[in-house]
Amino acid sequence: MARAMSETLTIRRPDDWHVHLRDGDMLRHVVGHTARQFARAIVMPNLTPPVARAADAAAYRQRILAALPADADFTPLMTCYLTDATDADDLAAGHADGIFTAAKLYPAGATTNSANGVTDIGNIRDVLERMAEVGMPLCVHGEVTDPEIDVFDREAVFIERVLAPLLRDLPELKVVFEHATTEEAVAFVESARPNVAATITPQHLHINRNAMLVGGIRPHAYCLPVAKREKHRLALRKAATSGSGKFFLGTDSAPHTREAKESGCGCAGIFNAPFALESYLTVFEAEGAIERFEGFASEHGARFYGLPLNEGTVTLQRAPVEVPAELRGVVPFHAGDTLGWRLAG
Ligand code: DOR
Ligand code: ZN
Repeated sequence: MARAMSETLTIRRPDDWHVHLRDGDMLRHVVGHTARQFARAIVMPNLTPPVARAADAAAYRQRILAALPADADFTPLMTCYLTDATDADDLAAGHADGIFTAAKLYPAGATTNSANGVTDIGNIRDVLERMAEVGMPLCVHGEVTDPEIDVFDREAVFIERVLAPLLRDLPELKVVFEHATTEEAVAFVESARPNVAATITPQHLHINRNAMLVGGIRPHAYCLPVAKREKHRLALRKAATSGSGKFFLGTDSAPHTREAKESGCGCAGIFNAPFALESYLTVFEAEGAIERFEGFASEHGARFYGLPLNEGTVTLQRAPVEVPAELRGVVPFHAGDTLGWRLAG
């Protein structure tokens, strides 16, 4: 069916359901990019030290608000970094008071600043039971850290060993499987009950592991979970553009300085905030699914979290936008490329 090529796309204001805003100078540098693109964002708590108690989150939220450009209209939604020692009462009180929107499970050692994460899911059983009781969403970094397990298999093994048993025990627990990267994750989320959903990043829709490893090692294509082989990318594109309410936008924008990435032991993380909508929309257009973009970007996530949809709209124009090679010392996703859409305003 031929469809008229329209020159603009206007959608309800979108949200980012997974972002790293950092702290200090980096926060001041990056927060404006996210605030320009999104009305709200789920802010990851992996600072050093982590955002582990409600008082930490309240203070961090203030620092984010103080770092925003004067004209910004942006609401940070805070998360709790779960540790073996998380206090279920503090967590539940923080949720009831509107400080914590969700809690994040980092298996200890899985990724950047996860050293204080959970060493065994059994250690936070009381916390997870309480979350299921009060309807507080659990955001999951879904990778095992077992050194025996190949890094490309860690997500699929996590589903088998940790997530499937957890949901058998606590079937009511609301779970967001963050940054899904495999066909196994897509299949698991699709077949799970409605209280299980997933975020998908722009990079996992655009690149497979060749982008990282062919023609030289390319640290700016490295993030965790690591990009997998092509069949997984195709499964993610299908899920994101399917119209299913179980899949929604979460950039996992994770800035590190160029020096920290281009190193003998480079940091994991891709800084995609500045052109996130443009990047996603390119994928939806290529898949012939522009009419499903609004659901993915602006509706599914809010509905899953039980939050109101945003008022207002944003408009993307069909126009070339050149992505800079670097933005104040940080190399953005698509650096040096030209994207076919531009966020207006
Ligand atoms: O690539 C990543 N970077 N994955 C994560 O899970 C953490 C993030 C970061 O904080 O840099
Ligand atoms: Zn992340």
